[in-house]
Amino acid sequence: MGTPATLRLFFALWPDATLRRVLARSTRAWVRAAGGRPVPLDNLHLTLAFLGAVPAGQLDAVRSAGRGVASPSFELVLDRMGFFARARTLWLGPSAVSGELGMLEQTLWQGLTAAGWRRQERVFTPHLTLARKAHAVRDAKPVKPVVWPVTSFSLIESVTGKRGAVYRELARWPLAQG
Ligand code: 2AM
Repeated sequence: MGTPATLRLFFALWPDATLRRVLARSTRAWVRAAGGRPVPLDNLHLTLAFLGAVPAGQLDAVRSAGRGVASPSFELVLDRMGFFARARTLWLGPSAVSGELGMLEQTLWQGLTAAGWRRQERVFTPHLTLARKAHAVRDAKPVKPVVWPVTSFSLIESVTGKRGAVYRELARWPLAQG
């Protein structure tokens, strides 16, 4: 077993244990109703920038892009349940992309594109995937908004194991206090 040639990487906001419990409580009814495969609580996250397979030799450049981000911390209100019909995923996200979240995503991509990565030409739809292979839920009660004080962001490696994805935090950077 040597070092793998590529690493599957992405930048994400990662909720702490307290927030994960709050998320579990406020989304339980939806996740049950949607069926499919619930995402394990410890895997809940919001992807900021997905890089996919990155040659191991470029890991330092990716870290530098993360280190170079100077963005303020902010509160994110998660109040919107969504469903990606094609991917059959149930998710929770903000009904409005806050200025700070949009700025963080853009600043990060500025650093990444300067280092040679290409941003996919898709609209940024911030979300935490709650269940996969799910079906749309129509008549659940509205979700109780979850307020997430976002104070850092992380670089994550995803390893696909027999039981699904295992995520490993490679680095974490604080956001500036207001
Ligand atoms: P998903 O939860 O909506 O599937 C690790 O796979 C993380 O990267 C997940 O949050 C996943 O989003 C996201 N991801 C996977 N492939 C992606 C892609 N091609 N573009 C953007 N995000 C992606």
